Amino acid sequence: MPMKALILSGGKGTRLRPLTYSGAKQLVPVANRPILFYCIDNLVSAGIKEIGIIISPETGEEIRAAVGNGKLWNAKITYILQDQPAGLAHAVKVARPFLKASPFVMYLGDNLIGRDIRQFVSDFTKKHSDALILLKEVDNPRQFGVAEVTRGGSIVRLIEKPENPPSNLALVGVYIFSPRIHKAIDRIQPSKRGELEITDAIQELILMGHKVKSFVLDSWWLDTGKKDDLLTANAIVLDEWGKKEIGGTVDKASKLLGRVKVGKNSVIKASTIRGPVVIGENTIIDHSFVGPHTSIGDDVRIINSSVEHSVIMNGSEVIDIERLEESLIGRRVRIFRNSGHKALRLMLGDDSVMEV
Ligand code: DAU
Repeated sequence: MPMKALILSGGKGTRLRPLTYSGAKQLVPVANRPILFYCIDNLVSAGIKEIGIIISPETGEEIRAAVGNGKLWNAKITYILQDQPAGLAHAVKVARPFLKASPFVMYLGDNLIGRDIRQFVSDFTKKHSDALILLKEVDNPRQFGVAEVTRGGSIVRLIEKPENPPSNLALVGVYIFSPRIHKAIDRIQPSKRGELEITDAIQELILMGHKVKSFVLDSWWLDTGKKDDLLTANAIVLDEWGKKEIGGTVDKASKLLGRVKVGKNSVIKASTIRGPVVIGENTIIDHSFVGPHTSIGDDVRIINSSVEHSVIMNGSEVIDIERLEESLIGRRVRIFRNSGHKALRLMLGDDSVMEV
């Protein structure tokens, strides 16, 4: 049976408030592309073309509108509605009619990893494993599923969000399963937080005597829940995958240095842009400086301002601000100067207005 994939893009969409109080956190942009798009890229480049996407009643339409029918990737996308966020293993249960008896990669739609998954897929297939999990050392294991492993690398136990973590090895949100996972899911009960946990299902597979393999991820991994995580993800993605590409108009008084991408119909006037930077479509940068590691969305106006190491999403404007740095600005935010001039460090949600 060919391998399929299941991307989890359901959930309440509330855990990244205030940035996505209205939207899906999987669509938060990193270098101007939704996080979810990088998941699809990664699956497709591992040769997986049949992809199921779990969506919720609240944010499902937004996800459908962004991803469409998968033509962009030449993939076949099936949307699967999970009526409530009852846990990652519950999502697999709901997807059973899609998954049938195929092995599958399960990918959390808000996770970003810095490498491809080809090797994991081929290792899983060659060794006839029942589950392959990725682990990564973290500083804050209490916030994740955690693995206790022997010195030789075998998994002893997996626990979700433990109070006393047995190690600092967190479960990364990418897993590969054989159809045996379904039987394990049928045997588990909801956890203390009321969710059917995939971590418990994998633990059950171990108890059932099946083969669970683990790899410690050698690249970066970002679980993009917080402002600093998102800025880091943005900086890393721009550093590693940023390209020089000019789609708009740049006047003679402007200077573009390094890898700068300017989208269609955008205008750069009397400004300096120092890459890696990505600028979306229909955006105006006028008499301004845009510094490294900045992503600016579509329909944005940056006028007489300086912006660095920041993410500014669609429809926002920054006017007469001497220095904006390490800031995450949602959609349709307006920032303009009133008096005084100090460096600003901000996290503003959608539709905010800030006058300084
Ligand atoms: O990010 C890695 C961590 O992801 C792992 O270390 C944990 O073991 C794993 O349980 C998971 O923990 P989170 O608490 O961070 O999961 P979260 O609720 O953020 O959900 C992850 C993705 O799955 C997110 O894109 C929303 C989606 N989801 C979540 C639930 C609970 C669904 O599609 N349906 C659901 O029922």
